[in-house]
Amino acid sequence: MERSLVLIKPDAVARGLSGTIIGRLERQGLKLVALKMLQPDKPLAQQLYAPHQDKPFFESLVTYISSSPIVAAVFEGEGAVALIRQVMGATDPAQAQAGTIRGDYGLDIERNVIHGSDSVDTAEGEISLFFTEDEILSY
Ligand code: RTP
Ligand code: MG
Repeated sequence: MERSLVLIKPDAVARGLSGTIIGRLERQGLKLVALKMLQPDKPLAQQLYAPHQDKPFFESLVTYISSSPIVAAVFEGEGAVALIRQVMGATDPAQAQAGTIRGDYGLDIERNVIHGSDSVDTAEGEISLFFTEDEILSY
């Protein structure tokens, strides 16, 4: 069964959207198997976004994601990675379709509400940055 890391980003936690977003993914049929709240430090944020380390927005992205609390979750389901990306919508909320999480709640390309793993290959590595195996439940 496929698993994906989901992060509810600082802007969404601050606006009280955590429950709404978790509920949106649950209603999609995805199973919540791990959940925690934390404020990532910069090294953790840098590891998460390491694939973007040469991009001009990297520093700003790392500062933002470590600026205040986030919610981290693991969702499980058939095709979970692609399904979550679809429900999230495009990276830039201005381009995201209505009905997607970013289309409905995103503010701008940085404050875009949610992170979801972008491939099955990267998902397991990302999950292990935030959760130990015994924090991920089977039921
Ligand atoms: P995420 O990793 O956060 O789930 O977002 P994503 O896959 O949709 O987008 P990605 O290309 O991985 O970019 C990671 C985050 O970097 C910011 N970004 N800014 N200024 C820009 O052109 C730009 N491009 C990307 C976004 O906040 C994006 O979520
Ligand atoms: Mg990404």
